[in-house]
Amino acid sequence: MSTSPAAEAARRRTFAIISHPDAGKTTLTENLLLAGGAIRAAGAVRARGENRRTRSDWMKIERERGISVSASVMTFDHAGRMFNLLDTPGHEDFSEDTYRTLTAADAAVMVLDAAKGIEPQTLKLFEVCRLRDIPIVTFINKMDREAQDPFALLDEIGSKLALDPAPLYWPAGSGGRFKGMLDLARQRFIPFAKKGSDGTDEGHPEPVALGGNSLAAFLDEAEQAEVEEGAMLVQEASKPFDRQAFLEGHMTPVFFGSALRHFGVDQLLEGLGEYAPPPKGVPATRGGEPTEVQPGDKEVTGFIFKVQANMDPNHRDRIAFLRLASGKFSRGMKLKVQNTGKQISVNAPVMFFASDRELAEEAYAGDVIGIPNHGVLRVGDSLSESGALRFAGLPNFAPEILQRVRVKDPLKAKHLAKALTGLAEEGVTQLFRPDVGADFIVGAVGQLQFEVMADRLANEYQLEVIFEPSPYAEARWLVAERADLEDFANKHKMQMSADIDGQPVFLAKSAWEIGYVAERYPKVRFERSKERA
Ligand code: G4P
Repeated sequence: MSTSPAAEAARRRTFAIISHPDAGKTTLTENLLLAGGAIRAAGAVRARGENRRTRSDWMKIERERGISVSASVMTFDHAGRMFNLLDTPGHEDFSEDTYRTLTAADAAVMVLDAAKGIEPQTLKLFEVCRLRDIPIVTFINKMDREAQDPFALLDEIGSKLALDPAPLYWPAGSGGRFKGMLDLARQRFIPFAKKGSDGTDEGHPEPVALGGNSLAAFLDEAEQAEVEEGAMLVQEASKPFDRQAFLEGHMTPVFFGSALRHFGVDQLLEGLGEYAPPPKGVPATRGGEPTEVQPGDKEVTGFIFKVQANMDPNHRDRIAFLRLASGKFSRGMKLKVQNTGKQISVNAPVMFFASDRELAEEAYAGDVIGIPNHGVLRVGDSLSESGALRFAGLPNFAPEILQRVRVKDPLKAKHLAKALTGLAEEGVTQLFRPDVGADFIVGAVGQLQFEVMADRLANEYQLEVIFEPSPYAEARWLVAERADLEDFANKHKMQMSADIDGQPVFLAKSAWEIGYVAERYPKVRFERSKERA
């Protein structure tokens, strides 16, 4: 087999799963690993004897709270393709982490609960995918439970997401009447077997070709008529699957199944391998000149999309997650950080095979490696052999909760500034320093992030802090010509602040206030997200 960087990149599929909590992301992750041969038995992803915890739960706080705070990566080699599944936190308070992880994904699987359709968190994450032009594969889960009419579900995808749904399969019934699905392209029926009355699971029968009386073994006459008519109607009513439209983000192929019963999961994995895109060129600058880094380029390049502390409680190391954009990475290689010029020897990179953490010997575009370091690497850093390449920054999203933070011991105020800056650099929080006054305002997407922050400030920096309500509810990055910006800032001194990179941020009491000032200052843009320089 060829191992040129281009050929290796072409067989990579790097994707993330987005869903509303409880739609079945964890169960699907586990069953995809099972389908890909990465684990042998269900139950391996959730730690033995403990519910609802995946292997990514390394942090102490995660173990205490039983939720997945931080994202990790699961890599498996299957059917000639290398899949990198980027795990995202299950809890919506950590959606900032999810947003960033999506910047490292080439595709996303959107899991919908068949009874609930598109839920708020699904919509939010979908919007981030759209912002990043990430193609979406839809998996309608829990067909073994009473589901909404599949036509209604497709309609909802069309109307709420403005995405053309292209079903590749069509379900026969749902819940107690769920019998399987038609494979529309291959004209087959894939039967679903209920568990035996004694609760044993024999697995599902082999697919059968349509024609003659082949369906009679699985469906009664009324059921046959229903599924055939539904399939005919849906094919007339929806556009046929068009890979280009999918890659451009206008269309989503739709799969049906039951993650829990491992039904439809093999088909989903096959679809991902077949249709999801391999890594593509990434816009960048080299010595200030715009360029596009191609996966097959010789130079090893990549960007850090996530930094995680405390993966191993015995060490104070941080692990920086590097998404490779080009070249053939080999262990021991030296890479340079573009903005600091620092050189690092990557002697102990970690690759995340689902079964365990292993040392990576080599990796290609699309792969993610973990680089242990002591704070040299930051989210958004560009790494390359020459040190000359710079990728467009990762976005920061406007926080949804803003609080004032105070340290109990006033003598430690300086220490607090340093600690908060550290956490902000890691991406744990967003930090805003008001132009007037000495307080810090910290922003997060969810309440739980403040608890993580307090925990880490206490454990790692020996700082007892108090979070207090702030008068602000919204933050917007300001973009304008210098004179317009100064004019605005002068008239709104009390509400101006700077983020950790010194960029001006307007703090507002409400979204309404932002609308109000934006109308009066048309030359100033109030941005909800910022590409980190
Ligand atoms: P999440 O990561 O998206 O939050 O969802 P998760 O996989 O944890 O699934 C949420 C619940 O839905 C779990 O039940 C899980 O067993 C169930 N589930 C997932 N996929 C399917 C499916 O295809 N069919 C059915 N019937 N149920 C499904 P739970 O009772 O909350 O948790 P547990 O006690 O089973 O772990």
